[in-house]
Amino acid sequence: KILILDFGSQYTQLIARRVRELNVYCEIYPFNNVPPLTEEVKGVIFSGSPCSVRDEEHPTLDLSQYLGKQPVLGVCYGAQLIAHEHGGDVTPSTIREYGRARLSELHNADRLLKELTLGSVVWMSHGDTIKEVPENIEVIASTPSVRVAAYKLRGQETYGIQFHPEVTHSDEGKTLLRNFVVHICGCQQDWTAEQFVEGTVAQLQEKLGNDKVVLGLSGGVDSSVAAMLIHQAIGKNLYCIFVDNGLLRKDEFETVLDSYKHMGLNVKGVDAKDRFYAALEGIRDPELKRKAIGRTFIEVFDDEAHQIEDVKWLAQGTIYPDVIESLSVNGPSATIKSHHNVGGLPDFMKLQVVEPLNTLFKDEVRLVGRTLKIEETIIGRHPFPGPGLAIRILSDITPQKVHILQQVDHIFISSLKSAGLYDDVWQAGAILTPVQSVGVMGDERTYEHVVALRAVASVDGMTADWCRLPYDFLADVSNDIINKVKGVNRVVYDISSKPPATIEWE
Ligand code: XMP
Repeated sequence: KILILDFGSQYTQLIARRVRELNVYCEIYPFNNVPPLTEEVKGVIFSGSPCSVRDEEHPTLDLSQYLGKQPVLGVCYGAQLIAHEHGGDVTPSTIREYGRARLSELHNADRLLKELTLGSVVWMSHGDTIKEVPENIEVIASTPSVRVAAYKLRGQETYGIQFHPEVTHSDEGKTLLRNFVVHICGCQQDWTAEQFVEGTVAQLQEKLGNDKVVLGLSGGVDSSVAAMLIHQAIGKNLYCIFVDNGLLRKDEFETVLDSYKHMGLNVKGVDAKDRFYAALEGIRDPELKRKAIGRTFIEVFDDEAHQIEDVKWLAQGTIYPDVIESLSVNGPSATIKSHHNVGGLPDFMKLQVVEPLNTLFKDEVRLVGRTLKIEETIIGRHPFPGPGLAIRILSDITPQKVHILQQVDHIFISSLKSAGLYDDVWQAGAILTPVQSVGVMGDERTYEHVVALRAVASVDGMTADWCRLPYDFLADVSNDIINKVKGVNRVVYDISSKPPATIEWE
């Protein structure tokens, strides 16, 4: 495997994604919290950073642990750090360089640059530049404004590159990364979804033996894939619980429960709608809604888990980005910490935890799900927030409002599907606003709710843009909603990006 040491760059996860796309397994660690090297580690990549090696307090580590011992690739700050520690001169660029540049000199006899072409576009994003390098560093590529675009330490497999091979704007970035991880480090390209399933099922069998495991299904991709993996390993000893919190999409509880049963899962559907509605009664504040829903879920799940005799494990669909976040350079975030306060925990939380997806990125979870033959309706579904429709009904929640929003949402989502637009959209849904407006239907004056439609394009939900859905499509959906859903007489479309707005309205 490859280790990626994170110095705080926004692109670190992208490096990992690219390496995984080469079917090579890799792990990210913060530069100041790296586990000791084992034989499995075939090479190390140092990431970029928002910091400068010229800063008094710049992030650094003992390079002698890595350099010369195994292949090392420094990217941007990583390259500057290695050059700096070898006596190179790193200075602020006269112009900060962001964006495209072309390789104008290339020693492609070098193994790192094999098959790269002169004139190839590389993506730059740096404030500092490596001005001078000492004798023991050989410059192997340049662009018109950056002489030291790539270098090699003589006599060892240590490389530095000033550009970012991990971003898709670098034409041959993937070739360069392949040269490093496959040809220089000698990694096998055997990290595939099939291998993952095979290996993980065997590990789970060993770890869980005859123990019983409980898992909360949500209808989403992560919990579904986690369940199917564990099911493959231990069959009926996996007890799944799927809670109807009364805040799901129209008919979702029944259809998803059916799919789960169809997949052979041992799943219990729990109708807890009334408990959730009671807990939410009169609450208008979004954060208080989230708390009430979270608390109620824990109560319901705890009650159910107690009915499984002798259960030993709690399975969770935690994925790798959550793990990276909890290990990150800045330490665990405040919300992640709150899970760790022992004392007062419900009983199921005292179980041992098993998280079979905690090394995977989201797209890999989908690949694994497809390998496990999970239905496409589950694998390909849009993300849906845990608190469900509660944060799409502004102000207080009543069963009547849920009913209205479910119908609106259903028309919107099924129209997206039948128009072939569903897979082009990252997430879509409808919002029931507390605003009422005047309308006219037949000869009657109406005074009813305004609903908003939201459809966004995104990669990870961190940033998003609104989808340019065709006007005619929006016109049809709007007509359909107003004609069919009692209580709604106006439809608007949300054209805000994130930032500065967010995807959900609450
Ligand atoms: P925002 O609204 O923050 O949403 O732009 C980003 C992504 O997170 C989802 N989301 C949530 N998911 N519990 C969840 O499990 C929540 O409280 C929550 N709030 C937002 C949202 O649907 C989007 O995918």
